[in-house]
Amino acid sequence: MQISIIGVGYVGLVTATCLAELGHNVTCVDVVKEKIDEINRAEPPIYEEGLDDLLKKNIKRNLKATTDLNDAVMGSDISFICVGTPDKSDGSGGVDLKYIKSAAIGIGKILQETKDYHVVTVKSTVPPGTTDSLVIPLLEKYSGKKVDKDFGVCMNPEFLREGKAIHDFMNPDRIVIGESDERAGNVLYELYGGFNCPKLRVSLKTAEMIKYTSNAFLAMKVSFIGEMGNICKNLGIDVYDVANGIGYDSRIGHKFLRAGCGWGGSCFGKDVRAIIAKAREVNCKPVLLEGVIKANEKQPLRMIELLKEKIKSLTGKKVGVLGLAFKPDTDDMRESPVIPIINELLRENAVVYAYDPKAMKNAKMIFGDKIKYMDSAKQVADKSDAILVVTDWDEFKDKSLYVGKVVIDGRRVIEDTKGIDYEGICW
Ligand code: UGA
Repeated sequence: MQISIIGVGYVGLVTATCLAELGHNVTCVDVVKEKIDEINRAEPPIYEEGLDDLLKKNIKRNLKATTDLNDAVMGSDISFICVGTPDKSDGSGGVDLKYIKSAAIGIGKILQETKDYHVVTVKSTVPPGTTDSLVIPLLEKYSGKKVDKDFGVCMNPEFLREGKAIHDFMNPDRIVIGESDERAGNVLYELYGGFNCPKLRVSLKTAEMIKYTSNAFLAMKVSFIGEMGNICKNLGIDVYDVANGIGYDSRIGHKFLRAGCGWGGSCFGKDVRAIIAKAREVNCKPVLLEGVIKANEKQPLRMIELLKEKIKSLTGKKVGVLGLAFKPDTDDMRESPVIPIINELLRENAVVYAYDPKAMKNAKMIFGDKIKYMDSAKQVADKSDAILVVTDWDEFKDKSLYVGKVVIDGRRVIEDTKGIDYEGICW
């Protein structure tokens, strides 16, 4: 099929590259020219495992990038809207839909000129009701055409983990197709025909809600096991043994039960806040979801509490921080638990030595000259009296980094703790 992808963040670019790999002709489009040039030179503007090779393989073949929306959408069978949906800046937790609006207006204008049937598909995470109440009216207004008669609309949420997005795209647990009518859904159903997984056909707003519910549930699992971990710790119990014990119950499962200093990233916080805001709009009090957020806000600071049980005053103390990214295999620091941890260390007048294999550049943008940046975990260890392990990078497993030091492990990274003044956050 002929596919256009609007927005080349990690969702758009991964979707474009994978669909090209599956044999479709894909054109992706973005307003940022540098990104488009990089993609056409087969240089991924973001880090994603495996993306480099797939981009190189497909870019000269059936994948191209452009800044011209018309070039991309005209003549394509399906357009995917993959633009960002950031938090509103007013602190309400609501979602800023300005990029969705401009994509819908742009596509609407192009549809005015097209003769063939076209399916506009929203892939960006948008609050339930957005495709029906915002995207479709804009498409109809700017095309002068009617949904379901002249064009179709789908909502097809993504479940891609950053860093593992190519793997997740190619090996989906399920594919959710929200459809304005059966004809539109059939087009996506055919597109995903090669995938041997359940394909769910639902209404547009059900598809939107599945995405939020999925992320809220995963965030809840991590907040939950963190809280159980805090209780376990005070009872002298290892929460990892408890998680293992409950995980064999097939209703619970073992995944997403790694207790630690909390979840971060660009999705969980934004999506849980957005569904809380939506709930309030429809007169619901989402007490559990509010608890998911609150529990996660407290969790990173437990590392400081545990540190202060070992070292009474942090003033002037040299504290090493290993890990800055919100999880391993990414340079992304958005909502990383390390941010409140370092801010608290600085508030307590500690001297902070930090290292991350990938996120140093981003850390410098956040902390400037307030902390000291080291070139390796070893350098951090050499400088520090105490070490906090915040991200579970493999290279932080090396026991020799910690011998003779006070160590607070926020991610269960260190296996052999003999000879270390060691404290796990939840075990
Ligand atoms: C998450 C979801 O997993 C994806 O399915 C979804 O598509 C994506 O959000 C999105 O909405 O775009 P991602 O934010 O990349 O993906 O990260 P995860 O791998 O889910 O990890 C999130 C956070 O939870 C990390 O900080 C991780 O360290 C933490 N975590 C995860 C734990 O602390 N314990 C666990 O057991 C699992």
